[in-house]
Amino acid sequence: MITTNHLVRIQCCMPVFSNSNRTGTSRSLRAVQERPAETAEKKNSLNFGGGGGGGGVVAVNPEPRKGLAAIAIDFAENLIVKLMYNSSQPLHYLSGNFAPVSDETPPTASLPVSGRLPDCLNGEFVRVGPNSKFAPVAGYHWFDGDGLIHGLRIKEGKATYVSRFVRTSRFKQEEFFGGVKILKFGDLKGLFGLLIVYMQILRESLKVLDVSYGIGTGNTALVYHDGKLLALMETDKPYVLKVLEDGDLQTLGMLDYDKRLQHSFTAHPKIDPYTGEMFTFGYSQTPPYLTYRVISKDGFMHGPVPITISEPMMMHDFAITENYAVVMDLPMYFRQKEMVKENKLINSFDPTIKARFGVLPRYAEDELQIKWFELPNCYIFHNANAWEEDDEVVLITCRVENPDLEMLNGPLTEKPENIVIELYEMKFNMKTGLASQKKLSAPSVDFPRVHECYTGRNQRYVYGAILENIAKVAGIIKFDLHAEPEAGKTKLEIGGNVKGIFDLGPGR
Ligand SMILES: [Fe+2]
Repeated sequence: MITTNHLVRIQCCMPVFSNSNRTGTSRSLRAVQERPAETAEKKNSLNFGGGGGGGGVVAVNPEPRKGLAAIAIDFAENLIVKLMYNSSQPLHYLSGNFAPVSDETPPTASLPVSGRLPDCLNGEFVRVGPNSKFAPVAGYHWFDGDGLIHGLRIKEGKATYVSRFVRTSRFKQEEFFGGVKILKFGDLKGLFGLLIVYMQILRESLKVLDVSYGIGTGNTALVYHDGKLLALMETDKPYVLKVLEDGDLQTLGMLDYDKRLQHSFTAHPKIDPYTGEMFTFGYSQTPPYLTYRVISKDGFMHGPVPITISEPMMMHDFAITENYAVVMDLPMYFRQKEMVKENKLINSFDPTIKARFGVLPRYAEDELQIKWFELPNCYIFHNANAWEEDDEVVLITCRVENPDLEMLNGPLTEKPENIVIELYEMKFNMKTGLASQKKLSAPSVDFPRVHECYTGRNQRYVYGAILENIAKVAGIIKFDLHAEPEAGKTKLEIGGNVKGIFDLGPGR
């Protein structure tokens, strides 16, 4: 069996080995099937990254500048860090199992294989996750880190391993400087965070940094659509990757859909298995705070649908059904004043605000037909699936009770009782306007997956990760949505709607 430390690391979402046409959830693994016709067409590549009808792959060539201004800002930043940052606090997501891999691995062929790889299995299994190229100046959050893709190429019974950074504008510029120059989420806390933001603004305004291509990391998820393999991060546009014949991974550039994409792009777009369309959204700290988009099967991005939200918030996922898109206005707000006054991270959860879910006809050209539903306060990182039943839209989701993003940066020994994430069924009645919810599991489960051929359609089985603590997956769980959950359960165990549990075992 092929084992590498890289491939078993858990980042954000469940790994997936699939030969359907999307990856779905974040930090995901992706199997890219080789297609004989494409191989014949292109001798040097598998045509993953360049194909499809939609264009808009932009070469990313930022123009950062060294010089006096760069040196002066570095000096000021170092002073701020020295005076205000407690460097003795451990950076958990840079140590142990989360320690970054320092270098890329060129294609390493003929890996030892226990047993036999079937001849019919040809393709590349890829995953992406955050992996910091350079040591941070100060803070570091789980969400930070350059996107590093690990690929396992399987062909003719042989396996090749490769790892390559997503060569983002951010990555290229920090490589140019030989160190971190762009702010990290983990820095955005308290007055220190505000000063770090000023350092960023200074670097931008004095042209030390070139932010014309964004500052994303491509570290969250991979999706395959319109013949392109995309590395995604929710605060940036997609990066397009090409899988070469020898398994190597090449960043081609940034995808802006022929300049039609002018906002960020979620790491969790949805692909309709029947139409081949991709549905996506972006959130922003300036109006419109939320924008919904539809991309045709051949890569044409339709016009933006701005959605009115009361204040900027972090929306990590959404859902589609056959006829609707489900967006989530959940109270994880960007509040800069609170960050400074209360010494908090810039994203803070407000437990006093109800959760809002907007159900929009999925080809709507504006938000006039959206129907909003309210449910008790919660946050949601990941949805499993959604579909329609008579007058209702059903959402199967992993509901988080009182989340704390700072805890996501806390000690890895965080006890499970500190996180409560449970599988829920939520229903939105399009006729009555009423919403309801039902708990389907004990804590804690997240990173839900369904068979992607059922995206947006009624389906039965949901798989998820059992969270032993906030950063450790203890096993995989299988739910049967046709069975009733057992009442009174305080932990995830077989019985009721839990059909199976696979324990990863000690030391994993
Ligand atoms: Fe995610």
